[in-house]
Order: sequence, then structure tokens, then C-alpha cells
Amino acid sequence: MSVTVLVGSQWGDEGKGKIVDILSEKYQIVARYQGGANAGHTVEIGNNKYILHLIPSGILRNEVTCVIGNGVVIDPTALLDEIALLEKNNIKVDGRLFISHNAHLIMPYHKLLDSINESGDSKIGTTGRGIGPCYIDKYARKGIKIVDLLNKKVLEDKIRKNLDEKNNLLKKVYDKEELNVDEIISQYLEFDKKIDKYIKDVPAFLNDAISKGKSILLEGAQGALLDVDHGTYPYVTSSSPTSGGACTGTGIPPNKVDKVIGIVKAYTTRVGFGPFPTELLDEDGEKLRKIGVEYGATTGRPRRCGWFDAFLVNYSVMINGIDEVAITKLDVLSGFSEIKVCTGYKLNGKTLKSYPTDYERLQTALPTYETLEGWNKDISKCSSYDELPDQTKKYLNFISKKSGMKIKIVSVGPKRDQTFFIN
Ligand code: GDP
Ligand code: IMO
Ligand code: MG
Repeated sequence: MSVTVLVGSQWGDEGKGKIVDILSEKYQIVARYQGGANAGHTVEIGNNKYILHLIPSGILRNEVTCVIGNGVVIDPTALLDEIALLEKNNIKVDGRLFISHNAHLIMPYHKLLDSINESGDSKIGTTGRGIGPCYIDKYARKGIKIVDLLNKKVLEDKIRKNLDEKNNLLKKVYDKEELNVDEIISQYLEFDKKIDKYIKDVPAFLNDAISKGKSILLEGAQGALLDVDHGTYPYVTSSSPTSGGACTGTGIPPNKVDKVIGIVKAYTTRVGFGPFPTELLDEDGEKLRKIGVEYGATTGRPRRCGWFDAFLVNYSVMINGIDEVAITKLDVLSGFSEIKVCTGYKLNGKTLKSYPTDYERLQTALPTYETLEGWNKDISKCSSYDELPDQTKKYLNFISKKSGMKIKIVSVGPKRDQTFFIN
């Protein structure tokens, strides 16, 4: 039996999808625990490229059962599109995907409010998928859950009640057109017909699986620094991508979790607004974006790029309790003759002892760098640690020491076979 949590350790897009796909060979169940269709997890198998937004990346292995936990917010349209796309590619979903009856539903007004919020002065640079407004309703105890789909009367009442309030807001505050209640009700009733077969009591299912000795991989979306509590607030997402979120988002208790694996990109990227101390606004940043093909898997936006931040990853290791790390995109650094690593921040001339997540300090903190020699060699075909150039080994050892992380997996390209384990 083993329960492993897999987390993004930086600002998302670390390559979680690829590593989940690799690891899921050894797990019977893969479960998503938070976020929604704001995630874009890419898996490349042979010549096929899949981008998963809601369904766990384990779906690409036939033997794996996939679960969407209560912590996830579900956009029906995105879910049905994803199921259709997988089935078109001959990937069986029926009987292999289960959705928690306690997961909340993204409603049309959530997406609308997301875009309205983003048109004002305090932009976060969200993915526009309605994530924030849906979690707002969840915590305001007004949300509509998957379980509500099972009772037509309850569903109708809840949608009407929500729309009374939302239409008032749309009309009186934002001067927008009101939404049609009946249209939304029939749209969600239609949705129920299609997803009814996937609905499950997920905590009971997962805990039963654990008691039967099955292995479970819990797939996080986003990254630790986008966590609503531990991230760079307010420039965060509205859920808990850190490992703690895996328990509340699935119903698996903390004492059943055996291991936390952190996915760490060999440099740093961020999408959307917010402080980013090691960001490169010069040709090195451009080069990372170009070689690393750093464009959002969900929105296509260019990702902001910068050097590896060991201070940040060290913080992430602490709050997530990361036991082991998968380093991804190491191959992208091959074109640099010198590579910088941030080992700490200075604020008003003083070295900071702990990671500052608050906007004001993070925005003004100055990173301190150490420069390492690059390797100028293609490493994308290396299949063991021993095959790596000496400078690459030095880089890995350096970032591992400075971040306090144990590197177990190395990824040198997007494909399955461009991965190796370190003993
Ligand atoms: P996720 O959101 O954490 O799953 O990451 P994304 O899928 O959004 O972004 C990671 C991108 O990098 C995808 O396009 C992957 O195919 C690609 N990728 C993953 N690992 C590697 C790697 O080791 N090297 C290279 N060059 N690309 C990688
Ligand atoms: P994966 O799982 C990178 C960012 C958005 C924005 C902020 C809030 O692929 O790593 P939201 O739509 O969640 O309210 O936006 O969070 N963001 C991500 N950045 N990868 C992601 O997911 C992200 N999901 C959200 O760009 O800055
Ligand atoms: Mg992504």
C-alpha cells in the first residue's frame, strides 16, 4: 500500500502531467485534489500530445482508475469536452473515472464574474475559467455541488437563489445583461444525464482502496507559490495546491499519506501577474521561453521565465514536506554557457532568513546569485545520471543542496523515455 502526493513546487507548469504519467505505471488510482480547468497538464506519448485540464493524467494508462476529488471545481463543459477528446483517441473513460459527489460546479456566472474582476484595476492575470468566483461561493456556503444534480428540485432551487443574487449584481453593479435562469437549469440537468454514471462517494472509495492495499497517487494542480494560504497572495489561485490540500481535497486522512513528491523545473516560470524575483526580462529570458516552449497549456499566454530560485524551492520543500523531487526540463538549460542560481534574497541590504510571500517584500527583494558553468551539450538522450556531463551533475548537486531537496527523477525532454531515476 502507498499513498503519494505529487505537488507543483514553484508557480505551476513544472511538468506535473509528464511525471504523473511516468509514475502512474506503479499506481492503481490517480486522484486530482484541487483546482479546476485552470490547470493544463501535458503528456506526450509517441507522436501524441494530450493536454489534460480536469481529468488526472493517469487516464492515459488503461489499468489506472482516475478520481476527481471534492476539492476540485468542475466546469461541466470542460469535463465533457475532455471526456469526448479522450474517447476520440480510443482512451476508455467509462468505468475508469469517478467524480466526488461533493465537488463544486463552475456555473456560467462564475466565468462571467472572473472576466469582470479581471477587467478592473486589480488584475491577477487569471485563466478566466471561473475558478476564484466558484471557490468564493463554496466558502460563502452558496455553492452548487455535483450531489445537487441528483435532485432536480434542489438543483432548481439553488440555481434560482444564486441567480437572484448574481443577476442583481450583474445588472446593478456591473451594468451587464442578466442571465437566463431556465436556460442554465436545463443546461445543468442535461449535464447530469451525462455524468451521473461517474458520481461516487470518493472518500469511501479511496479509504476502502487503501484498506485493501491499493496504491494511490494524488495529483496536484498549479504550484505551491500559487497556494491561497502559502503562495504569493493575492497573486495566487483560490485553492490549496500544497500537500495539505490533498487530504481535504479527497477525504484521505494525513496519517495515510506515505510520501510527498515535488515536481521542480530546472529554472523558474510564472504565468499571470505577481512578483517574480528571478525573472529575466532580457535575451536569456527569451531564450528560456523559446527553448523551453514556455507558453501556457491552458491559455497559450507566454510564460514569464527566470533562473532557478533555490530560496523559493527550499520554502516549498518545507511547506509541502517534500521527500523526493523530480527535476524537469533540465535539457532546456543546455544552450547556456553560464547558469545562475538564486540562493537567497536581500531586502534593504539585509539577507532574509525566511521566504517572504507578502507582495510588498517580495516585490522589492533582490535575489543573490551564484554562477555555475553551463554544459553546452545536448543531454536530451541521456538515460542515466552517469551519462550527464560533469557540469550538469554539478548543477544538480548545487541546486539540490541549496534547496534542501533529494532528487530522485530527472526529466530531459517531454517524452516518456526522456526520464531516468537516480538511486
Ligand atoms: P504541468 O502543468 O505541471 O503539467 O506542466 P505543463 O504541461 O503546463 O508544462 C510543461 C511543459 O513542458 C509541457 O509542454 C511538457 O510537454 C514539457 N516538458 C515536461 N518535461 C519536460 C522536459 O524534461 N523537457 C522539456 N524540454 N519539456 C518538458
Ligand atoms: P498547472 O496545473 C500556471 C495562475 C494564473 C493566475 C493565477 C490565478 O497547469 O500548473 P486562476 O485562473 O487559477 O484564478 O488564476 O494562477 N495559474 C496557473 N499558472 N499553471 C497553472 O496550472 C495555473 N493555474 C492557474 O495564471 O496567475
Ligand atoms: Mg500546466
